[in-house]
Amino acid sequence: MKRTLGTCYYPEHWPEEIWEADARRMAETGLTWVRIGEFAWSRLEPAPGDLHFEWLDRAIETLGAAGLKVVLGTPTATPPRWMIDKHPDMLAVDADGRPRKFGSRRHYCFSHEGYGKESDRIVRLLAERYGRNPHVAAWQTDNEYGCHDTTLSYSAAAEAAFRIWLEARYGTIEALNRAWGNVFWSMDYSSFQEVDLPNLTVTEANPSHSLAFRRFSSDQVVRFNRRQVEIIRAHSGAPVSHNFMGRITDFDHFKVGDDLDIATWDSYPLGFLEDRVGADETHQRTFARQGDPDFQAFHHDLYRAVGKGRWWVMEQQPGPVNWAPYNPAPLPGMMRLWAWEAYAHGAEAVCYFRWRQAPFAQEQMHAGMLRPDNADAPALIEARKVAEELDIAPEVSTPQTPVALIFDYDADFAWSVQPHGKGLSYFQLVFDTYRALRKLGLSVDIVRGEARDFSGYRIVAAPGLIHMPQDLKTALAEAGTLVVLGPRTAARTADMVIPVPLPPDIPGLEVTVARVESLRPDMPIPLKGGGKFVGYREELDGAADVMMELEDGEPAVFRQDHLTYVGGWGDETVLKRLYSELCEEAGIETRELSGGLRCRDTKGVRIWTNYGAEPAETPAGPIEAAGVLFEKL
Ligand code: GAL
Repeated sequence: MKRTLGTCYYPEHWPEEIWEADARRMAETGLTWVRIGEFAWSRLEPAPGDLHFEWLDRAIETLGAAGLKVVLGTPTATPPRWMIDKHPDMLAVDADGRPRKFGSRRHYCFSHEGYGKESDRIVRLLAERYGRNPHVAAWQTDNEYGCHDTTLSYSAAAEAAFRIWLEARYGTIEALNRAWGNVFWSMDYSSFQEVDLPNLTVTEANPSHSLAFRRFSSDQVVRFNRRQVEIIRAHSGAPVSHNFMGRITDFDHFKVGDDLDIATWDSYPLGFLEDRVGADETHQRTFARQGDPDFQAFHHDLYRAVGKGRWWVMEQQPGPVNWAPYNPAPLPGMMRLWAWEAYAHGAEAVCYFRWRQAPFAQEQMHAGMLRPDNADAPALIEARKVAEELDIAPEVSTPQTPVALIFDYDADFAWSVQPHGKGLSYFQLVFDTYRALRKLGLSVDIVRGEARDFSGYRIVAAPGLIHMPQDLKTALAEAGTLVVLGPRTAARTADMVIPVPLPPDIPGLEVTVARVESLRPDMPIPLKGGGKFVGYREELDGAADVMMELEDGEPAVFRQDHLTYVGGWGDETVLKRLYSELCEEAGIETRELSGGLRCRDTKGVRIWTNYGAEPAETPAGPIEAAGVLFEKL
């Protein structure tokens, strides 16, 4: 398959006279795709029912005539001002009970049925009008569900919908009281109508209650998206996508992905570095102009799974952005490297955000492919280079990898409801594992928590899966492949209660977690042979073989047949020791990579990327700073 490039364009931001020249220039740069429309509601419908689609007809025609394919976004992330007068209670409400105001975007509550109907209506109008338009080659629903902390809404609409959701799940209020342990602190309810949302309680709400609210909120996103997809599909055969984000775990992306044809995500490697990667100051400084060497790759692998194989980067950072604590410019070459990193993980397309920098409003400090004065910006020059390379580069395809890593949004909900120690996050634990695997030179498939078939994998890593249905326990116990569990495996029931027999209670693994503790950052627990447990550790009993020990002689990692149980949060040394030993046993070749050097195996070609600011050596030869190297396998 030919990999492609694109950009995000806002015809409504520019005089119509320049659309044609813009379109021509996009095509000359080698771009295939142009995403438009996702914030244009106030220009499509300036007053209720006053429809103005003619400009969009002309924009699509102009772009299409230049040979570009259009991704048409539904504009529901930006309901216009009049909508608030029509539905004053549609605003999302934050955890302190304050409505989010109009004046930016994403100010709607997923549970508000009045807004849901408005969303249906505008999506239907677009789908009817453009569903068979030859230039509209793909759709995008809404924009970045959950961005700006908008998945959880504590509105009256959410409260009413939550009660219905609870009743459907538990049937009777007695069952809910029992499942949540509401006898504790006299929290028993006598009807579903009494159950509030779990905010503004005096101290923390019951974790079972909070977890239920997280699951409900996730389901509301899935429902909202599904309505749009169904309407689009009724009128169009073009694939439907949504653009997800980096390290946003507030809703189950796999479940949204089930309703999509293509998963896309918005990759801002420098923007993410400080707040989302979870790395220390030295690391942030080292990669300030390149981005973390593993964070993008992790999400590429994640969204390949969410999209069931079909995925894109819908927004690629084009230069300095406006929204991170600091916003440096990328090292020359990085905007090319990021694109190749995405292709190496199977991206069908990489679209740079945005075509021309807007001199007005919130994102005036955000670079584009063009400067506000229309001159080429560095992103355009690097994109042109990628386009030329795509014409001659080897075909990239992503066969199944030897190692699978399970990622489960529900586990992330549970960890965030009850972290037990400052900074303990499921996402971080999985990402630390991913980084260690990548630093061993491994290519990784991420698989969802609902997976039951692990055939073809030689190692399955399942860190931190706090809730494990019996059939997953059985599937892993019988997988016939090396499986790595722990910490916190099956540590809670589906309703957030400690199970008895105590965890992990996996068939064929004689290990019991007797006690758990969380640790200050300055009290790591060293292991014999190197490395330590940081932040969290479990005291293990069991008859299985001890594979690694703490320095005080207590068991740290148990092994029984093909099952390994890790009783703590291993640092990089521990994780690399563990996985290199297992890889050796499984006959998987590893190589130690350091600094910013990484590789990814595609069919027949190993793609090396250097996130370092200095040249480096690979087994296939030297690689320049911010460079990409293709090694034939
Ligand atoms: C994304 C968003 C875009 C734009 C961009 C700026 O989160 O989808 O609309 O705001 O960030 O970096």
